Amino acid sequence: MPDSSALRQSLEALRHQLNGLAELDAAGVEALEVRLLGRKQGVLTELLRQLPGLPPEDKRSIGAEANRLKLECEAAFQARREALKAAADAAAARGIDRTMPGRARWVGGVHPVTRVMEEIVSIFHGLGFARATGPEAETEWYNFGALNFPPDHPAMDMHDTLYLDIPERRTGEDRRRNRTSGVAEPAERREPSDRRFLDQGRWLMRTHTSPVQIRVMQGEPPPIRVVIPGWVYRKDPFDASHAPVFAQVEGLAVDEGISFVDLKATLSHFAREFFGSATAVRFRPSFFPFTEPSAEMDVGCGVCGGRGCPACKGTGWMEILGAGMVHPNVLVNCGLDPERYTGFAFGMGPQRIALNRYGIPDIRLLYEGDMRFLEQFTR
Ligand code: PHE
Repeated sequence: MPDSSALRQSLEALRHQLNGLAELDAAGVEALEVRLLGRKQGVLTELLRQLPGLPPEDKRSIGAEANRLKLECEAAFQARREALKAAADAAAARGIDRTMPGRARWVGGVHPVTRVMEEIVSIFHGLGFARATGPEAETEWYNFGALNFPPDHPAMDMHDTLYLDIPERRTGEDRRRNRTSGVAEPAERREPSDRRFLDQGRWLMRTHTSPVQIRVMQGEPPPIRVVIPGWVYRKDPFDASHAPVFAQVEGLAVDEGISFVDLKATLSHFAREFFGSATAVRFRPSFFPFTEPSAEMDVGCGVCGGRGCPACKGTGWMEILGAGMVHPNVLVNCGLDPERYTGFAFGMGPQRIALNRYGIPDIRLLYEGDMRFLEQFTR
């Protein structure tokens, strides 16, 4: 036997559906009318069908209520239809043709570079890495000194830095901080990498996201696991493969007992998550002042599957990141004991990855904001 009180509730719920009527256009009114009053499957029709099964006293009152509701619905639909018709007539009188197709609006989308950066961050998030960020205007100490760049090392020229025309940072507070930044002093006494940086030195636009490694290590004790998405600046010409401002995603893990095995396993896992489970990876020795040993990781070219094509310059491999074990001097510069802690770091260029993944021939397309290009990436 149908449940009388459930039926009463259904009728009440149905009445609420009429509330949105004023927002509906003709097609919407029609659809709602079929849904509520349709002769085969209409909600009210179905409810009315249950009436004969009710106890006599309920049958009468619920039946009356259902019929009242049915009339209400019919009146409301009729009123809305008339209102729409009146509006259309008025518009027509003013020379507006409501049957013209509307102007399509642009649908916003996530920029392909942002999308790649977020995907990278989320894969590392799954491995327990938190997101960290740092300032784009940095000092020589954070960008170079703390990262173990020796004076006049060629790597520093490579970075072709944009210096800022503001006074160097020399404050008592900084001097104190940097004096204590070499405090770890394990087995043998260690000096901060370079006495030139006892003050923070000149201001510059960061040439990589690696200075954020220093800020993270200064800010929290190990265990540390962070990914650092951000924008970096170099005095590069703007051409098909270079830009003076470009994106990086940095990573840093510092803890007791971290080894090169962790680096290889973590980055191989990342490559397979990002590029697909069958992706081949290889590590080649490399050099960075702030990691030792250092490596570069290649993945099998996704465009030709490793056979060799213009995208991979015929090699079958694409270089996607630099990495290595955090140099002991860097740990000391952050006040950490390198006898106790080890770590690995990596840095990659999401734009290069986006160019490869989407087969984009010129990095400048990523900067121009041309809708004909960007629309290809809206979902
Ligand atoms: N900072 C390096 C670069 O910009 C990349 C890197 C980061 C290498 C971390 C090793 C470890 O080229």
